[in-house]
Amino acid sequence: MKKILVTGGLGFIGSHTVVELQNEGFDVVIIDNLSNTTIDVLENIHAITGKKPEFYKIDLRIKNDVNSFFENHTIDGIIHFAAYKAVGESVQKPLDYYENNIGSLVYLLQEMNNRNIDHFIFSSSCTVYGQADNLPITENAPTKPAESPYGNTKQIGEEIIKESCKAYRLNAVALRYFNPIGNHESIKIGELPLGTPQNLIPFITQTAAGIRKELAVFGDDYPTKDGTAVRDYIHVVDLAKAHIAALKRLITKQNKTNFEFFNVGTGKGSSVLEVIKSFEKVSNTKLNYKIVGRREGDITAAYADTTIANNVLNWQTTKSLDEALDAAWKWQQKQ
Ligand code: WQD
Repeated sequence: MKKILVTGGLGFIGSHTVVELQNEGFDVVIIDNLSNTTIDVLENIHAITGKKPEFYKIDLRIKNDVNSFFENHTIDGIIHFAAYKAVGESVQKPLDYYENNIGSLVYLLQEMNNRNIDHFIFSSSCTVYGQADNLPITENAPTKPAESPYGNTKQIGEEIIKESCKAYRLNAVALRYFNPIGNHESIKIGELPLGTPQNLIPFITQTAAGIRKELAVFGDDYPTKDGTAVRDYIHVVDLAKAHIAALKRLITKQNKTNFEFFNVGTGKGSSVLEVIKSFEKVSNTKLNYKIVGRREGDITAAYADTTIANNVLNWQTTKSLDEALDAAWKWQQKQ
C-alpha cells in the first residue's frame, strides 16, 4: 500500500483530500503545524473513513524537524497543501509568506531528492493568471505578475518545482485551484476560517447565521452580467478527487513531462449576486447584504477551461454550486 504524506492535511482542502486518499486505499500520514486548523479535524476524518491517519505536529520551516520526519518514514509520494493563503494578510506580512510558503517547499523538495521520493502534487492557484485576457482560462494562458505576495509564492513555487524536476528525478503536478467551496456530505469536516472570513462563502454563511451583521459585496461596477465579479466555485470534494487523479497519473507513470499543471475548476463562472441568490434558495433565508466599493487586488472574472484536466486526468466535477452552498450552510449551522 502506497504511503502518502499530506502536508497541511488537517486544513480545509487537505482534510478532504485525506478522506479521498483513504477511500482509495492509500496509507496516509499528515504533517500539520495547526496554525490554521484544529486537532479535532483528525478525529473527524477518522469518523468519516474509519481509519485514523498518522499525524505529526511539525512546522515545515524547521529543517531539522522535516529531516528527522523523513529519517523515520518511508514515503511514496507527497501532496503539499501546507502554506499561508490569505491574500490580504500576505500584503501586510510578505516575509512570513515567503519564509513559510517557499522555505517549506524547498525543504520538502530537498528531502524528495535525497530519498528518491518520486511523486509530488502541489497546491497552486488560478491566481497565477491574474486577470486573464481570455475566458475561460486555459493552461497556456500566460501567468501575470502576481497581485499579492501570496499569489507570488504560488508562481515562484511552480518555478522552483519545474526547475527541481528538471535537475533531479522528480515528477510533479501542480493543480491550479479556482475557488474551493462547500464540504463533505457528512458535515464532519469543512472550512474553518479563523477570525473574520476573507472568502465569500464563509462570510455568507456567517451572515446568514447572524454571526456577521451583513455581507459587503465588493463592487457592482464590473463589466459582467450583473456588475459583480465572476469566479469559478468548485466543490471541495471534486477538488480533492482531482488530487487522487493526479497522484495516480504519476504513480502509473502516465505523465508526459516531469512537471505538469492543470486548471481545476468547474468551467462555469458565477457572479457574487448569483451566488447570493443560490444561497438564499438552498438555505431558504434572505441574506442581508449591501453593495460597497471594489476590494483592492480583485479581478473582474476568472473561470476555468477544464478540457485538459477532464481528458488527461480523466476527472470531472460532479457537484453543483447549489450542493456546495447547501453543504456549507449545514456545516455553518453545526458550528
Ligand atoms: C470571491 C468573490 C470578491 C468576500 C481568493 C484567492 C485564491 C483562493 C480563494 C487561496 C470576489 C467577493 C468576497 C466578501 C465579496 N485563496 N467577495 N465580499 O478573491 O476570488 O480568491 O480566495 O487559495 O487564491 O485569490 O476569493 O472568496 O475572497 O472572493 O464581495 O466579503 O467574492 O470580491 O469577487 P478570491 P474570495
